[in-house]
Amino acid sequence: MQIAIIGAGGVGGTLGRGLAAAGHEVFYGLRDPSAEAPAPLQHARARQGSSADAVAASEAVILATPWGATEQALRDAGPFGGRPLLDATNPLGPGLTLTHGHTDSGAEQVQRWAPSARVVKVFNTTGRENMADPRYPQGAALMLACGDDDAAVGVAVGLAADLGFDAHAFGPLRNARLLEPLARVWIELALVRGQGRGIALGLMRR
Ligand SMILES: NC(=O)c1ccc[n+]([C@@H]2O[C@H](COP(=O)([O-])OP(=O)(O)OC[C@H]3O[C@@H](n4cnc5c(N)ncnc54)[C@H](OP(=O)(O)O)[C@@H]3O)[C@@H](O)[C@H]2O)c1
Repeated sequence: MQIAIIGAGGVGGTLGRGLAAAGHEVFYGLRDPSAEAPAPLQHARARQGSSADAVAASEAVILATPWGATEQALRDAGPFGGRPLLDATNPLGPGLTLTHGHTDSGAEQVQRWAPSARVVKVFNTTGRENMADPRYPQGAALMLACGDDDAAVGVAVGLAADLGFDAHAFGPLRNARLLEPLARVWIELALVRGQGRGIALGLMRR
């Protein structure tokens, strides 16, 4: 699949490398496409250009910008022409507070900012180290994807599975009101409560 990545930083670059290793073609959308791309973005099956060019060449788009830059990044990258837009952002404000919740979510705001996209919330509930390698001795880390378009959610679940996650559809986009606080749970455990970044949430069964 041809995948555009808007926000080619820690998360975007990690997802891009993993998806390229899984056989996908990655097009990083950069704010300054004339500048030389950072080394982590120079890998097999990768190219770089403007965000608009990356989206135009893609079948699906990953969004991994800092929350405060997201509206502008979407304006620069769109229109999205119905493409799945896989939203990995977390709407974090000062002190790691969630700026949306309960009656709205960052993902629903992203959908309002990018009405021509089919937005899916995914890749937000774990750290980038787990995106690079979601395998643990106890099993694969959990990845949930929610959105209002089943086909777009299917794309997200498929790409997460390609990376090695235990990936599941998680209902409509408003369920991002659950996934964004779940991301905050991972952050609290890993970064505030001292568990470190080498932890992941998992789904256990008997
Ligand atoms: N870090 C994690 O483990 C993690 C896990 C899950 C979710 N998230 C979420 O993922 C998002 C990205 O986090 P990160 O840690 O990857 O941040 P990061 O390393 O700072 O990367 C952000 C990237 O966004 C780019 N960017 C900023 N404005 C842009 C614009 N207008 N157009 C295109 N690109 C733009 C930046 O490019 P420049 O270099 O040009 O500034 C940078 O490459 C955040 O919303 C975060 O909450 C992070």
